[in-house]
Amino acid sequence: MENGQKTVHIKTFGCQMNVYDSDRMLAILGQQGFRSEPDLKSADVILINTCSIRDKAEHKVLSLLGELKPLKEKYPGKVLGIAGCVGQRMGRTLLQRVPHLDLVFGPDSVDRVGILVDAVMKEGRRTVEAKFDADGRSYSQPSIIHRAKPSELLTIIKGCDHFCTYCIVPFVRGREKSRPIAEIIQDVKGFVAAGTREITFLGQNINTYGKGTPEKLSELIIAADQVEGLERIRYLTSHPRDLGPDLIAQFGTVPKLCPALHLPFQSGSDAVLKRMSRLYTRDEYLAKVDRLRERCPDLALSTDVIVGFPGETDADFEQTLQVLRAVQFSGAYLFKYSPRPGTRAFDYGDEIPERVKEERLVKAQDVVLPLIDRANLGMVGKTTKCLIEKLDKKQRYYTGRNPYNTIVHVLNAGEACLGKIVDVEITEANGSNLKGYYVGAPKTDRQYQTG
Ligand code: 5AD
Ligand code: SF4
Repeated sequence: MENGQKTVHIKTFGCQMNVYDSDRMLAILGQQGFRSEPDLKSADVILINTCSIRDKAEHKVLSLLGELKPLKEKYPGKVLGIAGCVGQRMGRTLLQRVPHLDLVFGPDSVDRVGILVDAVMKEGRRTVEAKFDADGRSYSQPSIIHRAKPSELLTIIKGCDHFCTYCIVPFVRGREKSRPIAEIIQDVKGFVAAGTREITFLGQNINTYGKGTPEKLSELIIAADQVEGLERIRYLTSHPRDLGPDLIAQFGTVPKLCPALHLPFQSGSDAVLKRMSRLYTRDEYLAKVDRLRERCPDLALSTDVIVGFPGETDADFEQTLQVLRAVQFSGAYLFKYSPRPGTRAFDYGDEIPERVKEERLVKAQDVVLPLIDRANLGMVGKTTKCLIEKLDKKQRYYTGRNPYNTIVHVLNAGEACLGKIVDVEITEANGSNLKGYYVGAPKTDRQYQTG
């Protein structure tokens, strides 16, 4: 604590929605006078925004909580809180299991973070809040624009109505609720006025944005396309069943909509898809991919795959490999099935041995990674437009992304490029990343010192 000003550190696990929620919590606490503290251990309030999509994600949280025990014992005045999906799933149990924890709350309580932290600090009361918003199909949550990065995330729909049999999301994020288009466009304009050039709309099941209201995702995209100063629009995550013709038709025709789409197929076997309750077949998925590529031949498609779902045979798995070979994906996130308590598949058991899951994961990686590498190598010598976003993690180069969502290290870019879209000539492909020089400046590498 400096000059009496309280500090907060929020550590974020999981998806982009958690990133958005953490940013919002920082803004809310900022309005209450908190300063953001980059060092977790020095902060007065430590919040961990958690993910429960797989068992491993939950374990990471529990082990971090264990590591923080001595710190909390030494400084009992610090506030230690769990936010997000683990908070929602475990609620009071978590508070009972972890005596040095002060606060537990779920994703729908993000806006109450100030009140909750205050209650703990002032009254010393250990607090749990893991309830969902009241029913209804819409909700309001205007963004607090306390800083604007070149590329910003913006949640427009929360929750999910699908109940895929393996998935915890509907249990921890509740039913689908959408924000009104007018409110979202106000946010977009606010971000753009503050310097943002690219917006990624977020939702667990974004295609059904506006369900139960008169509004639709394709209408939001048209409205965002008309915002002056905005240059790029993206959205995620799509569900293959809900990606309708109106949305498909927008790729390649709506000028600001980037030619990139995340479209998880999960499994190439119809039998497995059925047990997952995915509501489409492998042929229906492939037909959508064909229609997308007819519309927009250079569309970059990325995907998610689960291997080792209960009952997955070698033949089922082979069908997944076939899809990975047939569709040239630009990115693929491959996961071993993880049973989640409370989901339907949890009761199917977890009969695929860990060793087989691991083997299948490696096989799938061996199929898809070389295809992605090869596509990236094909970019060498070409010029691509990049939005320069930030220094890379090791703080050596400025990095950005091209319209296809590939990360590009721009070796000769300086701070003046930040927030601008520049032409970059690709000189090297390195796994999933590209390297190059922006056109119009000398090809001298700039190395930035780590702080
Ligand atoms: N086990 C493994 N992977 C999962 N996913 C969701 N639930 C599970 C689970 N129980 C994956 C899906 C989803 C991505 C976000 O996480 O592939 O698309
Ligand atoms: Fe989970 Fe996505 Fe299925 Fe919803 S659509 S239940 S978020 S995998």
